[in-house]
Amino acid sequence: MRYLIGVDLGTSGTKTVLFDENGKNIASATVEYPMYQPKNGWSEQEPSDWWNATQQTMKTVISESGVDPEDIKGVGISGQMHGLVMLDENGKVLRRSIIWNDGRTSAECEEITNKVGKEKLIAITANPALTGFTAGKILWVRKNEPEIYAQCRHILLPKDYVRYELTGEYATEVSDASGMNLLDVPNRCWSKEILDILEIDESLMAKMYESYEITGYVTRAAAELTGLAEGTPVVGGAGDNAAAAIGTGVVSTGKAFTTIGTSGVIFAHSDYVKIDPQGRIHSFCSAVPGKWTVMSCTLAAGLSYRWLRDNVCTEEMAEAEKLGVDPYVVMNREAEQSPIGANKLLFLPYLMGERSPLLDEKARGVFFGLSAMHTRKDICRAVLEGVSYSQKQCMDIFHELNIEVNDMMGCGGGARSPLWRQMLADMYNCPVKTAEVFNEGPALGVAILAGVGTGVYENVEQACQKIITIDNEQMPIAENTQAYKPYYELYKSLYPALKDSFAELNNLD
Ligand code: XUL
Repeated sequence: MRYLIGVDLGTSGTKTVLFDENGKNIASATVEYPMYQPKNGWSEQEPSDWWNATQQTMKTVISESGVDPEDIKGVGISGQMHGLVMLDENGKVLRRSIIWNDGRTSAECEEITNKVGKEKLIAITANPALTGFTAGKILWVRKNEPEIYAQCRHILLPKDYVRYELTGEYATEVSDASGMNLLDVPNRCWSKEILDILEIDESLMAKMYESYEITGYVTRAAAELTGLAEGTPVVGGAGDNAAAAIGTGVVSTGKAFTTIGTSGVIFAHSDYVKIDPQGRIHSFCSAVPGKWTVMSCTLAAGLSYRWLRDNVCTEEMAEAEKLGVDPYVVMNREAEQSPIGANKLLFLPYLMGERSPLLDEKARGVFFGLSAMHTRKDICRAVLEGVSYSQKQCMDIFHELNIEVNDMMGCGGGARSPLWRQMLADMYNCPVKTAEVFNEGPALGVAILAGVGTGVYENVEQACQKIITIDNEQMPIAENTQAYKPYYELYKSLYPALKDSFAELNNLD
């Protein structure tokens, strides 16, 4: 039997899964790490945490499974997108990574738009300048930490840093590089024109690959640290959402998924580059060679529920520990006891500002309608509903742009909850399915890419057909769809009413 490893470098932790060539999960391990918020709206992580977590989880899956490392034919890495990793000439990390949900770069994004021109920027990179994306972060470091910028010789994305540690290669691939505002997305290569205008030396940028291509081989030093065999091929891999698409079989027109991970993503496959002229949803290269994707991203989906767990639901955490279950199971049980509309309590999930569809890094979270009659049951439900309304609002844009979606999968930790999946099905008014291995979507996706790159599978589409099976389909309940409507309308009206107040709050010392 041949085996493949998929690494999913997420925001809350890194998960490594060892699959056999039939896509069966043989062993998996996760190691968590912190996210640092040195200022309101800033967000950073330590690249060494990602590498340590990769080493530990690889060692665990290899030793627990008893698989001979020589039988592991390839490794793929999926990563949180957009984060900036800067290395010096010796490959040493120069500062913490500024990650995807950091909102500090409004001024730099304005500068990029002014210098390049909004239309040209969208024509080449398929997206407007966004605070989450990497180019603004590069300019921010250049302006605010010139001594660090002066030492920088290599710019990498989070998963590409782990690749560098594994193989010694400075490489990236098209799906993740699409989120940097520096890639020529229609032509799948760095845009020399944009790099020139922004005065970013092309030598800083990693070598570009398609997602399934072999980018390097595990070095002896990395083999010792991870338990992999020296010389194991490492393929391009993919940004987490592009990887989840492969891992859930979203590789042809009409197919889409919603992920409730730290972020909330709706992602659809496209055979052509499709661009939202207003930039509310993103157009990226797909991990399927020669294809593209359209996706929305809200910044605090699972993050909102995790925040609630850690700061409010201490009793639920204690109860969960007694019962030996995940705290979210107890919180979901509570939420189920509150009716649709959470007894007239609404939650705006803008804890990290908001990307899709608002593009406003100054927005902040809100409980609206809080009353003395509310309990934690209502609060849990309001958070689940608020995050779901934010997905529904993104889904409306897909419809507005005539992006075909007739097959919706649910993935990420949030899709584990039948209640949350039902909410999405009811609000979208469309069935929401899960794949048998839905929670491993990104890891499975990059393991499939590793299999394609090393000849275990012929191509991505065939591998998906062979491996991915649907195990559940939740149908919308017409009565619920109706019941959510007035709350959704009210939800949509709250941000425009509060927009100026968010800006005012942001300006306070
Ligand atoms: C996508 C995005 C997030 C991150 C973290 O644009 O910012 O989905 O990749 O998961």
